[in-house]
Amino acid sequence: MSGPNTDYDPVQVTPLAAAEVEAMRDAALAAIAAAGDLDQLKQVRLEHAGDRSPLALANREIGALPPAARKEAGQRVGQARGAVNQALAERTAILEAEHEERMLVEETVDVTLPVDRTPRGARHPITMGSELIADVFVAMGWEVAEGPVIEAEWLNFDALNLGPDHPARTMQDTFWTEPAEQHVVLRTHTSPVQARTMLTRTPPIYVVCPGRVFRTDEYDATHSPMFHQVEGLVVDEGITMAHLKGSLDHFAAAMFGEGIDTRFRPSYFPFTEPSAEVDLRCFVCRGAAGAVETCRTCKGEGWIEWGGCGVVNPRVLVACGIDPERYTGFAFGMGIDRTLMFRHGITDLRAFFEGDVRFSSAFGSEL
Ligand code: PHE
Repeated sequence: MSGPNTDYDPVQVTPLAAAEVEAMRDAALAAIAAAGDLDQLKQVRLEHAGDRSPLALANREIGALPPAARKEAGQRVGQARGAVNQALAERTAILEAEHEERMLVEETVDVTLPVDRTPRGARHPITMGSELIADVFVAMGWEVAEGPVIEAEWLNFDALNLGPDHPARTMQDTFWTEPAEQHVVLRTHTSPVQARTMLTRTPPIYVVCPGRVFRTDEYDATHSPMFHQVEGLVVDEGITMAHLKGSLDHFAAAMFGEGIDTRFRPSYFPFTEPSAEVDLRCFVCRGAAGAVETCRTCKGEGWIEWGGCGVVNPRVLVACGIDPERYTGFAFGMGIDRTLMFRHGITDLRAFFEGDVRFSSAFGSEL
């Protein structure tokens, strides 16, 4: 005698009724058709074909049916799931194609548009030149020193052995600031950085100081009331003029190429003794007979004036608190603008100061 089928719960298997399965399938197909993009379709796939979707749950119930009913219910659910999966695949293909199409339109690049409509800026050739010069010395272990452009009269003159009545004071056409009792000038050379360095550091001192200087000069092709100098200062035991010559030869070679000699001509600076003007071998004609006579760069001289230099005057060492019995030193000062004019064949100094970016751009944009 057979008893009641206790395993069989009609409520649980309601989802397997034909109408239920159809309703699930139709709901899934409607949702798939309604999905407007791939994100929405992903959500629909989860809800209607995922592990917890009505059809997946229904599928699990099949096992609870009496064996006779399983086949038919299995087929029904299987077909419904098949239809849903196929609809998903078709909709995916359609939405992917649409997506691709839209991206092609949205990401279109107009290759006919002009490029670089905002021209790139350029660093100023004097900035780059100053750094290049400083690098030559830094590579030899020197340090870069700086000082203010608005300078105490004492540092610009007195500390450098240029006393109040010294004739050389008037030779440097000085911009004075008001009120005069303040004794402040726009520095006329980078040499006050020498004094500042010696006052704050103890030897051995090896510094290079590029910077801006000011003189009441007319503004023309070779003069400007503001220009640039680079100062060099070495104070150590046993320093001689030979070290100065070697350093300047190295500097010249770095700027103008190997084999560009320098020569010294006796000169006078209150802060160096002995003092010299430095000339540079003309890098165009190199002083060669047959070429030098007609050379426009050196005007037939074979040499180009480059700057001033000398052995640091012991009086300057004393003024800056350095023992002249123990230490000696050398110093030099060159025009940076002038150096770059030679180096790049620039004939008008004003090109540096007029701010035409077409001039600066020609020097490139090194960082
Ligand atoms: N300061 C000098 C000038 O401007 C140049 C110089 C510097 C000379 C250092 C000797 C030593 O003319």
